Amino acid sequence: MCGREFRDIVMGRYAVKKFDGKKIPEEQLQELFDLIRYAPSGLNFQPWKIKVIADAETKEKLLPVSWNQTQITTCSHLLVFCANEHLKEQVEKIAVEMKKVGIDQENIDKYVKLAKDFLIHVLPEQRKVWTQHNVFLALATALYGAASLGIDSCPMGGFERDKYAKILNLPPHLIPTMLCALGYAADQPAKKVRLPREEIFF
Ligand SMILES: Cc1cc2nc3c(=O)[nH]c(=O)nc-3n(C[C@H](O)[C@H](O)[C@H](O)COP(=O)(O)O)c2cc1C
Repeated sequence: MCGREFRDIVMGRYAVKKFDGKKIPEEQLQELFDLIRYAPSGLNFQPWKIKVIADAETKEKLLPVSWNQTQITTCSHLLVFCANEHLKEQVEKIAVEMKKVGIDQENIDKYVKLAKDFLIHVLPEQRKVWTQHNVFLALATALYGAASLGIDSCPMGGFERDKYAKILNLPPHLIPTMLCALGYAADQPAKKVRLPREEIFF
């Protein structure tokens, strides 16, 4: 892919307010999941779990606890990006995957030590924030990845996290952090409003 194409993706995507209800083909969905899987993360912890919701009944239940935003019920799939606070378990899982790709044991051990030391030294509150920051990178990858596949999306923070956890019966270590509604737009993009370069870069 050349830079121009990525520019079109960045400039062309927008936060869809209403989808047409058409389903995303399974193959495309799996392709998008792979892109999300490859999002970068601190110490490669990949501290996210993503609940995929496609059924109308669950979406209806979630609507009133999502500020009644129409994306919830009109989208094809709703991704609930959860921060996975079981970080120690995550290190063990990553170590298994390192072995599978042929990384030698010495380097795996070094990684595990570094990752566990990090967990010891970071305060629980900082750890929570850190984990959720990582989730936003997975979300950004989802937005741009979707656009690259011709899928429209909306990142959404307007929802009640505790109610989501209840309705979706999430275990306590999974914290609903952000939503990504996916599908095909049935609205038009609003005018893009962005601060000028000189306001941002100094
Ligand atoms: C953290 C975050 C929370 C957001 N929450 C919502 C939301 O609940 N509903 C919505 O329609 N858009 C939501 N958005 C989308 C933003 O409003 C949108 O990205 C911004 O206005 C810029 O517009 P654009 O994405 O169309 O370029 C959210 C975006 C972010 C990054």
